[in-house]
Amino acid sequence: MRVDIFTLFPEAFDWFLGQVHMRAAADLGHEFHVTNYRDHTPLRHGQVDDTPYGGGAGMVLRIDVVCAALEAVFGVDATRVRETRRVVELTPRGRQFDDRLAAELAGQDLVLLCGRYEGIDERVVNVVSDRVSIGPYVLSGGEIAAMAVTEAVVRKLPGVISNPESVEEESFAPELGGAGEYPHYTRPAEFRGWAVPEVLRSGDHAAIARWRRAQVTLPPEG
Ligand code: 6GU
Repeated sequence: MRVDIFTLFPEAFDWFLGQVHMRAAADLGHEFHVTNYRDHTPLRHGQVDDTPYGGGAGMVLRIDVVCAALEAVFGVDATRVRETRRVVELTPRGRQFDDRLAAELAGQDLVLLCGRYEGIDERVVNVVSDRVSIGPYVLSGGEIAAMAVTEAVVRKLPGVISNPESVEEESFAPELGGAGEYPHYTRPAEFRGWAVPEVLRSGDHAAIARWRRAQVTLPPEG
């Protein structure tokens, strides 16, 4: 798959793109591109945002700037980019991201539009296919959300995680009925009086599997 991230802070992704699973995906032929809106603004002095109509605090990322950046990268009218890939705006007003949406996005080409401050001009609805939030709280920009979405999606790509069992058994996957993963322990077997459950050290694989199934926690209601 190809992932294009649009942001005013491309350097925020330097560490992220160097992480082992991102590099593994790149080695498998998947592509990750980060574009700075500012590099494509049609406005003087590199302007990218402006004050909100109707007044109020903060700055709003301009729709003409977003469209110019999309058109520079994809070479088609901004409204047509969503014909060939999912175009996702990261916004606290979006649909809540979850494991099912991660699986749905994996393998398709993907555009992630990050806003900052008060977000992107609402007319971005004319170019996006999806509006996604990573949870019921407000972040100052879409960058951390874009990394969360990208990481969850990339983990779904075949061959990115070396041991496929560790993906299938993971938290919130349907194999666990959508429930959370079981707890993990490692050495030391006892520390400050805190002991590892005896069954995990018993060598009884059937008993261990039963114990783990019983531990699976349900995600909070909501
Ligand atoms: Cl996607 N963006 C921002 N700014 N805040 C958020 C979010 C996204 N998801 C949860 N909070």
